Amino acid sequence: MDDFIFRNPTKIVFGKGTEKFTGREAANFGKRVLLHYGGGSIKKSGLYDTVVTSLLDAGINITELGGVKPNPRLSLVREGIRICREDKIDLILAVGGGSVIDSAKAISIGVYYDGDVWDFYTGKADAKKALPIGTVLTIPAAGSESSDGSVITNEDGDYKRPYGSSLIYPVFSILNPELAFTLPDFQVACGIADMTAHLLERYFTNSSPVGLTDRLLEGTMKNIIDYAGKVRENRQDYDAWAEIMWSGTIAHNNMLNTGRVGDWASHEIEHELSGIYDIAHGAGLAVVFPAWMKYTYKHDIKRFVQWAVRVWNVEQDFRSDEETVLAGIARFEVFLKSLGLAVRLDGVGIDDTRLEEMADKCSAGDTITKGSFVKLGKADILNILRLAL
Ligand code: NZQ
Ligand code: ZN
Repeated sequence: MDDFIFRNPTKIVFGKGTEKFTGREAANFGKRVLLHYGGGSIKKSGLYDTVVTSLLDAGINITELGGVKPNPRLSLVREGIRICREDKIDLILAVGGGSVIDSAKAISIGVYYDGDVWDFYTGKADAKKALPIGTVLTIPAAGSESSDGSVITNEDGDYKRPYGSSLIYPVFSILNPELAFTLPDFQVACGIADMTAHLLERYFTNSSPVGLTDRLLEGTMKNIIDYAGKVRENRQDYDAWAEIMWSGTIAHNNMLNTGRVGDWASHEIEHELSGIYDIAHGAGLAVVFPAWMKYTYKHDIKRFVQWAVRVWNVEQDFRSDEETVLAGIARFEVFLKSLGLAVRLDGVGIDDTRLEEMADKCSAGDTITKGSFVKLGKADILNILRLAL
């Protein structure tokens, strides 16, 4: 096990009706709140009214900024920074999914920075101070509700880039599984693919031995697989959603990568798909991850055998590790397809015309590698994208 420091400061308020406590939680951080949200799902569901009432009851002044798009845009982040400075905002409240939360995180670090907030996402600057962020989560997926990451798309050049800092862990996150009842099938599927991918990125590691976190990662994957079908069959199944929502948070709150180094190449490659084609992150991962596995499994075939046997219940073929691994990957693909997701690029509307461009962007013109379990250069990334055709 590698040495590590672990601290996740996000207070989780979990359960039925917990959005009513938003005002109480927010009031701990001041009286002026920026209410940040997406394209309107929270108004349709009635969540907006509940949150506003709760904030007003707690004596909070509200400034609003809606309109966050999936794959959240830099231009709206800049607008949010201007508003926060003008209105002397104390707390940003993100009500929505990963896109709204990530946009709030970008605003929170941009407020105290004299340069352009995009500098954080290009590695030119590191955040020194941030406004606190609270969240009311509406979709179990990205894990941003208790992560130290934010992913923003710069419309100028279609670059989608991540930034990480312990300053952007939300100070509180309200998780009510009932809020997921209104999700469309496609978003349910994308969310499940994303949280599974967060576990896989951590699972494929060169750190050894990592027995406890292997078992925790495998158990969380199995739990997601068990409950994914239940929430798809019955969108009102509270207990199943509670399992999925908490799994999604646990998958990405950094507890499960204690003592180990994850890979993350599949995420980085997927960001090129979302950046250029504006597809949902989870849909892109369902295409990239199986291709990445097929390309890399020989690097540590025993780890892939363990995954196939323990997570997918593949009967181990003792004459051929390769057969065991390929059976595991095939079961993973069947699972993704059972959610209604495509596992090839054409299924998400991408042909072969810009593969080279994506590989080039991802590797910064073949000057850097991506991934830690296996380090990938431009040619490797291109090969993976071709495997996904
Ligand atoms: O915009 P509205 O109208 O609210 O609709 C949203 C949006 O269209 C809708 N939705 C959300 N909750 C709903 C709902 N519709 C009905 N009922 C509800 N309860 O779902 C759509 C997608 O929302 P989005 O926030 O984009 O989804 P998700 O949570 O999957 O977030 C994806 C973003 O998170 C980033 C991704 O790259 C992507 O940009 N990620 C962030 C991470 C982090 N910060 O730690 C890690 C992840 O790996 C990921 O990269
Ligand atoms: Zn993800």
